[in-house]
Amino acid sequence: MIEQIIEAVEFIRGRGVDRPEIGIVLGTGLGNLFVKQIENPVVIEYHDIPHFPVSTVEFHKGRLIAGVIQGKKVLAMQGRFHYYEGYSMQQITFPIRVMKLLGVKHLLLSNAAGNMNLDWKKGDLMLLDDHIHFQPDNPLRGINDETLGPRFPDMSQPYAKYLNTLLIDIAREKDIKLHVGVYISVMGPNLETRAEYRFLRRMGADAVGMSTVPEVIVANHMGLPCCAISVLTDDCDPDNLKPVNISDIIAIAGQSENKLTDLYIELIRQL
Ligand code: HPA
Repeated sequence: MIEQIIEAVEFIRGRGVDRPEIGIVLGTGLGNLFVKQIENPVVIEYHDIPHFPVSTVEFHKGRLIAGVIQGKKVLAMQGRFHYYEGYSMQQITFPIRVMKLLGVKHLLLSNAAGNMNLDWKKGDLMLLDDHIHFQPDNPLRGINDETLGPRFPDMSQPYAKYLNTLLIDIAREKDIKLHVGVYISVMGPNLETRAEYRFLRRMGADAVGMSTVPEVIVANHMGLPCCAISVLTDDCDPDNLKPVNISDIIAIAGQSENKLTDLYIELIRQL
């Protein structure tokens, strides 16, 4: 795998992307406003990059955008890969490995998630303090490449404390409601049944989604500090469950995108 990562890194460098400091992953419905803030953008389509998977979900754009925000070199993924699309866990996390080898020092992730905490409501943001990996595979399964990271990576603090502390302070200053909670990753692509929401809630999760955790596992494996924010796009109350569809989810994500963008732009300024 290391040779493939290096080939992708060299290709991206060849397009003029030099030592980005901050990597950003933009989740479902969250890829528009943030990208507009990137100065001097260099856009690279995923399908041009050697060994990159190609996004199959029509509403996910598939490109890397490099440039500058608040004087810092950033590299954003507009669209990510999901396990439910049929890729392997190694494929969906490949771009995170590439970011690390390009020189990224901090990784900022985002996603759209279902809200299972009945004290909160859709449209709110949740900072991930912890997660439960509940998908049926692991990106680190197989022979371990010690040059990338250890066989048994520690997970006692999967989300970097310095990033979460800064984000909590920024949210307070900006008067943006930012809950702190636990995210559980499921395979999807179907949303959950009432019984499943009841079960996932009792397992200790506040929000449920189909992404992020494999990327965070790989980031931790490589010693890349990361943080993640969920936009809670639908209320998953098992006793009062309304049908939702993906266009509702994207619409709510779009409505909260400005808050997420504000938080991350200010975080980038302070890093
Ligand atoms: N489950 C339920 N609701 C959601 C999800 C999910 O995985 N993602 C966004 N809203």
